[in-house]
Parts: sequence; C-alpha cells; structure tokens
Amino acid sequence: MSQDAQHTEQWRSTSAPAHVTRRAALQAAASAMALAGASSTPSQAQQALPATTAATAPEQATIRLVVNGQPRTLSVDPRQSILDVLREGLNLTGTKKGCNAGACGACTVLLDGRRINSCLALAAMHDGAEITTIEGLAEGDKLHPLQQAFIDHEGFQCGYCTPGQIMSGVACIAEGHAHSPELIKAWMSGNICRCGAYAGIVEAITEVAKEGKL
Ligand code: FES
Ligand code: FES
Repeated sequence: MSQDAQHTEQWRSTSAPAHVTRRAALQAAASAMALAGASSTPSQAQQALPATTAATAPEQATIRLVVNGQPRTLSVDPRQSILDVLREGLNLTGTKKGCNAGACGACTVLLDGRRINSCLALAAMHDGAEITTIEGLAEGDKLHPLQQAFIDHEGFQCGYCTPGQIMSGVACIAEGHAHSPELIKAWMSGNICRCGAYAGIVEAITEVAKEGKL
C-alpha cells in the first residue's frame, strides 16, 4: 500500500462511525473530558456519559408584542434577541444586523418609544412591549417625512445602515436632540455609516426637526 493510501486509511479508521454527527462526536468528547476531570474512575465516567450527551432544548417562552401596531403572540427561544425575532420570526427584514454586538446601530428600533439596539435586547424580557420598526413608519405609499428627507438630502449610499439611522433620527428629533448639527452628531453617534453619508443624514434630520414635520 502506498504512503498516501496508508495515510487515508488511518484517517478513516480514526473517524467516527458514519451515523455519528460531528457535533455529537464533539459533545461526547467534551463530556468525557469533563467527567474524566471530575472522577478518576473510568467506569463512573462511562456510566454518566449518556445522560450528559442528551441535548436539552431550552424551553420556549410565549410573549406578546405589539409590532408596528399589530398584536403578535410569539413562541421564542429565551436566548433570542428582538432583532432575530423580528427578522426570522416575523420576516421584518428591514431592521439590519450589522455587528450583532451593540456597536453599529444598524439594528435600531423603537421599543415603547425609545430607541434601542435590538441585537442586545432579549425578546423574552420584553413581554408586552410596543415595537416600531422601519416597516412601521410609512403610511401606505406615503413615506415618513424623515424617509423622504433622507432621499432628498442623499443621506445614504449602500443603504445598509439607513433603517437604523432613520429610526434613530426619529427618536433623536422626538427627544429634542436635533436643534443643531453638533447636537445631532452627538446624539446620532451610536449609528455608524460605513459609506460616510453623515452630511446628508444631518441635513435630513435638521430639516425635519426644523419644519416640525413629526
Ligand atoms: S447590529 Fe445591533 S448594534 Fe450592530
Ligand atoms: S449608507 Fe452604506 S453604510 Fe450607511
């Protein structure tokens, strides 16, 4: 047998059986290592192995939300963020996932009227909340004034950050933090635009705040 063939044969012989998935094999290995540390008797570790390898699915939580004016009852994984519930559970994909770590603002929505990074908020902790997403701003074909102002002032390029910028801008105006470009820049600083459309964003927010369009 050639060297290559021998090498391949060795990998085959050390692989898990075909019916064992990679995940199950890794879980079993990790459990065995943990048990080996806890007990110096191999037979004890072997006896405990089946119980620890059984995957336990987290219990689902039932929550009620009002999303863009519509009541929703949802069964969620307690580990799910509001962002994931919106995008994957309700198919409201206007809210974007950028960093998924609270650093970019792409996922900004209004929760009970306040802007939040929805990637950092666990849905199960907000039973009864009212959420507004970018899909909830327009009235039919009529754009929200800030959506229109973003178009008029070229406040975007690729558009990925734009839903978060607009939601944050709506809150910035409502909070009374849009009286000057400096204030707007400070209170919008949690929303990052990689395209650098900041000048248009500030102009759009300034216009809507000045004209009292909200
Ligand atoms: S995706 Fe939430 S802050 Fe970046
Ligand atoms: S418009 Fe491209 S990231 Fe902001």
